[in-house]
Amino acid sequence: MFQNKVAVITGGGGVLCSEFASMLAHEGAKVAVLDINKAAADKVSDRINEAGGKAIGVGCNVLSFESVSKAAEIVEEQLGKCDFLINGAGGNNPKGTTDEETYREGVKSFFDLDPEGFRFVLDLNINGTVIPTQVFARHMIDRVGSSIINISSMSAPSPMTRVPAYSAAKAGVSNFTQWLAVYFASSSIRVNAIAPGFLVTNQNKELLLTKDGSLTGRGQKIISHTPMRRFGEPSELLGALKFLLDYEQSGFITGIVLPVDGGFLAYSGV
Ligand SMILES: NC(=O)c1ccc[n+]([C@@H]2O[C@H](COP(=O)([O-])OP(=O)(O)OC[C@H]3O[C@@H](n4cnc5c(N)ncnc54)[C@H](O)[C@@H]3O)[C@@H](O)[C@H]2O)c1
Repeated sequence: MFQNKVAVITGGGGVLCSEFASMLAHEGAKVAVLDINKAAADKVSDRINEAGGKAIGVGCNVLSFESVSKAAEIVEEQLGKCDFLINGAGGNNPKGTTDEETYREGVKSFFDLDPEGFRFVLDLNINGTVIPTQVFARHMIDRVGSSIINISSMSAPSPMTRVPAYSAAKAGVSNFTQWLAVYFASSSIRVNAIAPGFLVTNQNKELLLTKDGSLTGRGQKIISHTPMRRFGEPSELLGALKFLLDYEQSGFITGIVLPVDGGFLAYSGV
């Protein structure tokens, strides 16, 4: 499907983006796995190469223009010009998280949030999307079929409780996706985002499930707001990714944020 396309994936050493990397390699793309954790990036690229695909692991900090520019030189030299950019590096930080849903004295409240922690989360998700785009989109201008995918979240359209920094940051990612789609519309670069619903990954497992595998309070709340009544699997994002990258299937689609959420967004709760 993506024979000889060059795909660059930031955060490629992580849970979701390592799956993206394997799928793209399986579909014939040459994959650059960029991650601040070089060992994690190498592990993913080694696995792909051992399976007969083509990948390189590149250590890269998405918050540094210089670091991303160096990574881009390596990618171009070893794989060629970037066709697909997936801005996957992102995430939350406890320093941008309140203890409870609504204000109460005596617990970590909005007033106790460390401004540096808040700034870190905004920076990672928003500038961590902007900077790699500034670097790699230059190689994509006027090349029909080139495509950028950002990773938003269900906390963007309506903020999730307790995570104000992450919610604001992902709302920024969705908004920036639309802005960029318009900006590059006549330069042959399509820009879309995927907004995953709730998936169980190593990072959030303890928040959602107890040791015996039953749901925590927060897990229960999520399931009761997900009409399909289950969490998603990382592999369930792959169809959306293939569709949005493939010019044959989605060549007239730009500027959308595609929910993959078991109906969460559509559900009002009543
Ligand atoms: N897991 C979910 O349920 C879920 C839901 C919605 C959205 N997302 C989003 O999907 C994306 C991937 O999430 P994940 O669950 O796979 O997370 P993850 O923590 O497994 O992966 C993130 C990767 O980004 C890398 N990274 C962090 N800071 C970086 C930096 N400055 N430069 C380069 N790389 C950096 C990390 O080393 C890690 O390998 C994130 O943007 C996340 O916000 C995840």
